[in-house]
Amino acid sequence: MNVGKFLPPTRTLLGPGPSGVAPSVLEAMSQPLVGHLDPSFISMMDEIKAMLRAVMLTENQMTFPVSGTGSAGMEFCFVNLIEPGDEVIVGINGVFGTRMADVAERCGAKVTRVEAEWGRIIEPAQIAAALGKVKPKFVAIVHAETSTGALTPIEEISKIVHGADALLLLDAVTSLGGCPVRVDDWQVDAIYSGTQKCLSCPPGLSPVSLSERAMDAIRGRTQGVQSWYLDVNLLANYWGEGARVYHHTAPISMNYALHEALRLVLEEGLENRWARHEANHNLLRAGLAEMGLGIASQEGHQLWQLNAVSIPEGTDEAAVRAALLNDHGIEVGPGLGPLAGKVWRIGLMGHSSSKENVNRVLAALKELL
Ligand SMILES: Cc1ncc(COP(=O)(O)O)c(C=O)c1O
Repeated sequence: MNVGKFLPPTRTLLGPGPSGVAPSVLEAMSQPLVGHLDPSFISMMDEIKAMLRAVMLTENQMTFPVSGTGSAGMEFCFVNLIEPGDEVIVGINGVFGTRMADVAERCGAKVTRVEAEWGRIIEPAQIAAALGKVKPKFVAIVHAETSTGALTPIEEISKIVHGADALLLLDAVTSLGGCPVRVDDWQVDAIYSGTQKCLSCPPGLSPVSLSERAMDAIRGRTQGVQSWYLDVNLLANYWGEGARVYHHTAPISMNYALHEALRLVLEEGLENRWARHEANHNLLRAGLAEMGLGIASQEGHQLWQLNAVSIPEGTDEAAVRAALLNDHGIEVGPGLGPLAGKVWRIGLMGHSSSKENVNRVLAALKELL
């Protein structure tokens, strides 16, 4: 078979992820391979863990990137914490809460669903009410719901959850690197993220972190972890402290990329990075308002990194998205579930969150509408 080399088009990635990547991250991926137990690779792994702790604002020892995308990090948290028959509470206000409940049930948990309308947050009072009825091992919340653009505040929920002697599990796939995520201050016990959103690294790794409370719960299991690949006890032999033992062949180049992406996050500084995301969101919002367009998610809880833009009545939403892609080289996302056909999802994540990109997408929308 004679197949030509694949040459991707140049796109400006302003959808729900992946986001644009800095040239130095792509360069890092093209560095020569070393073995996954090479001393140089192992010291790079240590730097990745230290940088992840700095980005997640945690001292948790068990902090490392799971090999796999954000959904692998989700499965990692659930499969390690759940034993069949455990009660868990899952907040559902979009696609990813729905996915968490599905994963929890596949792990054998009895799931209590706490639901909010798509676009709205999970309210602390809803969690308190559910905790009045069941005594779960943990409560799982999606911090930044990428399918709707809503940011659920965590601090108050965390106090309620710990007051009921449960653990708190957080999906920070879209939040990490784009807005505050304070693992230790908020007492988050299990957290997973993804590389391809506000960390601006290609998809392929899922940073995770487990608190000592979560590790105690895992040590107290009566049955082994069902998944071999995602069992933290086995992974700790490769990603933990001390002598490193083969578990699986780490995706070498992906880890080079994450190392560089995290280095860039810390070079910029977390506060500066959050401020940049906020400023570009405000710029987009103001430009959209001038065009008579609004953001559909709950006022006061709108994500800076993912904007669910209401589609004007009578607009062919797919045609506009296609024209943005084909004529302007800009990718934005469609609405999902109940928001399909109602919103465009404009991501301003990580490297993609710039004034230039905001002005480009506004100008293109102005022309097309
Ligand atoms: C909030 C959230 N959770 C989980 C995921 C799943 O991550 P992945 O698609 O990398 O498996 C995503 C992906 O968009 C997400 O936005």
